[in-house]
Amino acid sequence: MRNKPLPSGEVVLFPGEKRSPQATKTTPIIRLRNVTKSFNSGATRIEALNDISLDIHRGVIFGVIGLSGAGKSTLIRCINMLEKPDCGEIEVAGQQMTRLSESELMVARRRIGMIFQHFNLLSSRTVAGNVAFPLEIAGFDKRSIRARVRELLELVGLADRADAYPTQLSGGQKQRVGIARALANEPDVLLSDEATSALDPETTLQVLHLLRDISRRMGLTIVMITHEMGVIREICDQVAVIDGGRLVEVGDTARVFTRPQSPVTRRLLRGQMEAEIPAELLKRETHPGCKLVKLSFLGEVAEKPVMAELVRHVAVTPNILYGRIDRLQDRPWGTLIVELAGEPEDVEKGLLYLKNVGVDVDVLGNGNTNANHSASQGR
Ligand SMILES: Nc1ncnc2c1ncn2[C@@H]1O[C@H](COP(=O)(O)OP(=O)(O)OP(=O)(O)O)[C@@H](O)[C@H]1O
Ligand SMILES: [Mg+2]
Repeated sequence: MRNKPLPSGEVVLFPGEKRSPQATKTTPIIRLRNVTKSFNSGATRIEALNDISLDIHRGVIFGVIGLSGAGKSTLIRCINMLEKPDCGEIEVAGQQMTRLSESELMVARRRIGMIFQHFNLLSSRTVAGNVAFPLEIAGFDKRSIRARVRELLELVGLADRADAYPTQLSGGQKQRVGIARALANEPDVLLSDEATSALDPETTLQVLHLLRDISRRMGLTIVMITHEMGVIREICDQVAVIDGGRLVEVGDTARVFTRPQSPVTRRLLRGQMEAEIPAELLKRETHPGCKLVKLSFLGEVAEKPVMAELVRHVAVTPNILYGRIDRLQDRPWGTLIVELAGEPEDVEKGLLYLKNVGVDVDVLGNGNTNANHSASQGR
């Protein structure tokens, strides 16, 4: 079981899955190296971040999840140096943030947009005035500000509310203004700290899809802090899990959902599909000569008659005990719990066949050699 910080930036790909084109670019846009941050609270010292190393690649929507107090906000505030780490290195778009002077930091922060749970809009300014604000600070002339504000409000679907005041807007509309304002200076990176936590589920989805579309269209890197796995599942390409200021897991969202490594991740996944498989099935004793396996089908392979083909190619009998189909981002994701019966070598051939066609195979019982497997960890 892996329950300690992983080597920085390690990303485990789902079998058969291809890395998104953005994620294959080599130089990360955000690099954290051994970042540590503590606070003094009265007589006690709180280690908010402990030796965090992380790589985030350009164009990726990167989720950071953890329980309350895990250190998520501290982490995101270190990226734009609103919090200064005690030690460690933070690089954003090629700049060593920890080595910049205050005035250099002010300029560097223009390349890093941020959105917040409670929107942080200026109530005395209109929608257009809020979006114009960072452009005014950056010293643009009035005409280009007007043109840019119009463009941004169109992007977030609020062109017709330019003259409204924040109190006249719904939560979702306020967050759209927050997004437009954060994008005003064409940032390399958008940081989002619980940006949908104050919104109802439907508005949350609309805002998440807007962020995803903007990211895909502009190649914008987004770091999403959240305590909800649903947010990660909906739009994040990759996810890091932090607990007690430590990085406990990092990887592609599909892998983290199908094969969570740390107990904290499994706890956060409760209520999501992974944890809804009846526990007694995962612990089921298998008959001699059988193997109990969890099969995950993601993307194209979820639409193919894989089990029928398995039986045609290999002398095994699959007994399907459980099945469901969900969606992970916009891809179908099937899960089957199957008992595979046959001669031991045929069962092995069957497992190999499944892996080769792109199914993720997790052996749950009988002859299990997977030290990480979920049932053995007393989920
Ligand atoms: N300015 C501060 N002074 C003292 N302690 C702080 C400060 N900021 C954060 N902390 C402490 O650091 C730890 C991490 O806090 P942080 O706000 O990063 O957590 P979080 O994961 O964002 O939590 P939440 O989900 O509740 O927002 C907590 O124990 C918190 O009390
Ligand atoms: Mg927080």
